[in-house]
Amino acid sequence: MDVAEEQDILLEESILIDSTDKSKGRVLILTINRPDKLNALNSLVFSAIKEACDKAEKDDTVRVVIFSGATPNTPSEGKRSKPNAFVAGADILEFKGKNSEDILQTFSENCWEAIWNMNKPTIAMIDGFALGGGCELAMSCDIRIASVRSVFGQPEINLGLIPGGGGTQRLTRLVGYGKSLELILSGEFINAEEAYSFGLINQLCEPENLRSKTIELAITIGSKSIHTLKVAKSAVRMALNIPMDDAIKIEAKLFADLFDTEDKEIGVNAFLEKEKPEWKGC
Ligand code: COA
Repeated sequence: MDVAEEQDILLEESILIDSTDKSKGRVLILTINRPDKLNALNSLVFSAIKEACDKAEKDDTVRVVIFSGATPNTPSEGKRSKPNAFVAGADILEFKGKNSEDILQTFSENCWEAIWNMNKPTIAMIDGFALGGGCELAMSCDIRIASVRSVFGQPEINLGLIPGGGGTQRLTRLVGYGKSLELILSGEFINAEEAYSFGLINQLCEPENLRSKTIELAITIGSKSIHTLKVAKSAVRMALNIPMDDAIKIEAKLFADLFDTEDKEIGVNAFLEKEKPEWKGC
């Protein structure tokens, strides 16, 4: 096997791909797979996520994408088990000896933006540590569902750094200026209940219910018109970037444009006929 082939296999192994076809809303589950390193994002995982996002976006059968972290492997005898993790951050080993030029190359066109820029709905399914780049990865998704044993934080300050995967911006928009600064300046970890209390995560549940709860929501979302979902996501996204008066005008136009789609007619008729809509996606 040559080096390129070996690299391809490693890339494939960095992310596990699973899907569910229930209810015609196919849900893709992308699992970051480095459990021995608490799923820390190294350059291979970066590339694997970008590639997987690109494929999911182009695959018309995929309605919703869930991101998760691999569960710990069974420890070898005499060794302690690794803790559960969604993603414990960017791989700190890859920071050693790097200068600004090196890191800018890695962080431009990064995996957080690849997730953030997807038109399809995305959900982070969090069970365990979601730290630094892992918390940022969760925040790059549209919705976050976490188990009660999850732990959140932006500890980059402890490395003499700040968040570089969009954390300073997305955290501030999600939880507000004061709480964002508290987390980023202190580097302290918070538990899932606290994260839930100020809106960092959408839903909280017991670990054993996390998968079914997340898939249930994904199937509900995936059962809607794929076209309308994309329009809804882009309309809400405007709230982050565009002044309110302008955004309201654009929303009115997006709303009106939907009246020219087949799916609006299908949805309205299905309601009136008391039937389930069979969306066409246009
Ligand atoms: N980058 C690289 N390796 C990481 C990592 C990261 N962000 N987070 C965890 N790991 C590795 C550890 O080095 C360790 O590897 P080893 O078994 O080869 O020594 C393995 O994952 C298990 O982690 P460990 O620290 O032994 O688990 P723990 O239960 O004692 O502590 C944490 C868990 C999450 C508190 C601790 O791993 C930690 O602080 N990680 C870094 C978090 C961070 O600063 N993230 C932001 C990075 S920008």
